Amino acid sequence: MPSDTAGSWMPVALSADLPPATVIPAWTSAGSIALWRSQSGRVSASSDRCPHRGMRLSHGFVRGEALSCIYHGWSYSPAGGCVRIPAHPDLVPPETIRVAVQRVEESDGIVWVSVGEPAILPPRLDRFAPIRSLTLDAGIAAIEAAAEGKLDADGLIHVAECPWVRLLPAAQIACTLIHVLVEQDRNVADRITASRIAEALRRRAEKRQKDAA
Ligand code: FES
Repeated sequence: MPSDTAGSWMPVALSADLPPATVIPAWTSAGSIALWRSQSGRVSASSDRCPHRGMRLSHGFVRGEALSCIYHGWSYSPAGGCVRIPAHPDLVPPETIRVAVQRVEESDGIVWVSVGEPAILPPRLDRFAPIRSLTLDAGIAAIEAAAEGKLDADGLIHVAECPWVRLLPAAQIACTLIHVLVEQDRNVADRITASRIAEALRRRAEKRQKDAA
């Protein structure tokens, strides 16, 4: 997780898994978030709790440039302000009704969300192409051991059996989300191989984690 004294960045999703006008649940060490992309393509990270009655906003829907709650339809802008209350269509919602938001950066096919206020930007990983994400019931140490590789300065784990594959991990509450990356010039067959390697690595890492418990 790239960080400085003021904060850090978490790679919460792949860009390809968040098409326009969709919302998905995600998690950072600051809590649960509703990660959403507006119709025009802007990505936002809102707290996953509607200020009205607490419904999860990741269960909601995106219309145009706003995220709407599934329960009573209150809608929020990318900056977090409430922009519409359907039961009171003529009311301009007060500025005090808002959801907390976190900074988002999207680069090289990865969506990063800030925890705190990092002074640096996420690392550029343009030598690589992300191909998929997996959730592992294992911690970073077990994944490093299964990969026979260590986290580097960019937060990537090298995979000994396949030097053109990297794993980009994001620790979750009781598991680890990893994004699988391959060197940019790799063909379809190589990408399928990398995906299978990651699945085998998941089994090894989870076994290590279980054996260590
Ligand atoms: S709980 Fe979200 S609009 Fe009512």
